[in-house]
Amino acid sequence: MRTQVGIVGAGPAGLLLSHLLHRQGIDSVILEARSRQAIESTIRAGVLEQNTVDLLSETGVGERLQREGFRHHGIFLRFNGRSHRINMHELTGGRAITVYAQHEVIKDLVKTRLEAGGRILFEADAVSLHEVDTPRPTIRFRKDGQIEELSCDFIAGCDGSHSMCRDSIPAGLLRVYEKIYPLAWLGILAEAPRASEELVYTYHDRGFALVSTRSPQIQRLYLQCAPNDQLSSWPDERIWAEFHARLAGEDGWMIHAGPILEKVIVGMRSLVIEPMQHGRLFLVGDAAHVVPPTGAKGLNLAAADARVLADALGAWYNNGQSKPLEEYSATCLRRVWRAQHFSWWMTSMLHRFPDDDHGFQQRLQLSQLSYVCSSRAAATSLAENYVGLERV
Ligand code: FAD
Ligand code: DHB
Repeated sequence: MRTQVGIVGAGPAGLLLSHLLHRQGIDSVILEARSRQAIESTIRAGVLEQNTVDLLSETGVGERLQREGFRHHGIFLRFNGRSHRINMHELTGGRAITVYAQHEVIKDLVKTRLEAGGRILFEADAVSLHEVDTPRPTIRFRKDGQIEELSCDFIAGCDGSHSMCRDSIPAGLLRVYEKIYPLAWLGILAEAPRASEELVYTYHDRGFALVSTRSPQIQRLYLQCAPNDQLSSWPDERIWAEFHARLAGEDGWMIHAGPILEKVIVGMRSLVIEPMQHGRLFLVGDAAHVVPPTGAKGLNLAAADARVLADALGAWYNNGQSKPLEEYSATCLRRVWRAQHFSWWMTSMLHRFPDDDHGFQQRLQLSQLSYVCSSRAAATSLAENYVGLERV
């Protein structure tokens, strides 16, 4: 089998890349280890930056997102029992975020690719990459128990945070920057009425809590927990009791409890692989970088990388230019490190850390939260990073 760009992984990065390449007349094949049903039903992120919404809309995959997504002009920071609104719309000259689940983005992209004749091989597990520093790299993959080969001009490693494509960058050239946090999130989907029109990021003595939404009837809620916690130690009653304790305040605001449809525990780390390219191999999205979820940046960074790579491959195939491809890693890393900083900063400000030095860190966090909620300059900094910087 042959194609111009061989793509490993049908997450947001791989699917969007394939879609953007198609629009420039460039052929690609996506190899995806899981089934279509599995990728279209895994619950993950939910916040799309203005940039991501614009990209999807401008390239013809934003129709359902515009119709069914919820555009939010602000977020709340809640601490000391009170909510403070950050008016992102006003602070950023009219920009906003849209709450629209990642698996809905996946559904829209898969449908668009398949309708356009795109080739996505589901349950095709890439096992090794070959000749990545030659003009004819290949991907070996296992499908229906057989090993097959995909020969290409370029390989895009869009295979997520446990990337195997990453291993094809020689160890001597690779730098790995990693930070593990002593924190995790317990995420739930609950069938309950919405309690807030906008997201509520809560700082509390007992730990962080986040109130997000999926629809007027389905809510997405997160609680800080310990990284080694098991789901078995979080029965439903304990989860609701913890939300009540962390969200309670003098204003009497509270979420509504309801049947819990899904529970997951997600660990937290920051990871950057440099460079994001080697020879004809390019890493895209979580394969190259992972952020803690507090800044809602993971999916948005994957989309930003896909756009940079699609433009660079377009310049190579259609205009004979190699410079944008050579600069791929450096171009992406500017945004990646900005998002890393923002995600680390939000995480540091909003969680209780087990190693807090007799409450010193807590006092700093409360001071920072008050500052962000009272200074226009500080609030603008949060807002422009949260909705997504146009240029980095
Ligand atoms: P992925 O979405 O991980 O896609 C990679 C794809 O590659 C997968 O479909 C995988 O099956 C496939 N693959 C892997 N290896 C192979 C192989 N060898 N062969 C073929 N296919 C392969 N971000 C937020 O901003 N907010 C959140 O709340 C949030 N929650 C998350 C919860 C969980 C449980 C996880 C895991 C991530 C979460 N994220 C969140 C991060 C966000 O979802 C990711 O940043 C985003 O999915 C990155 O997209 P991607 O396409 O780079 O990688
Ligand atoms: C959601 C996830 C996030 O990581 C975040 O910061 C905000 C919202 C969500 O799943 O809705």
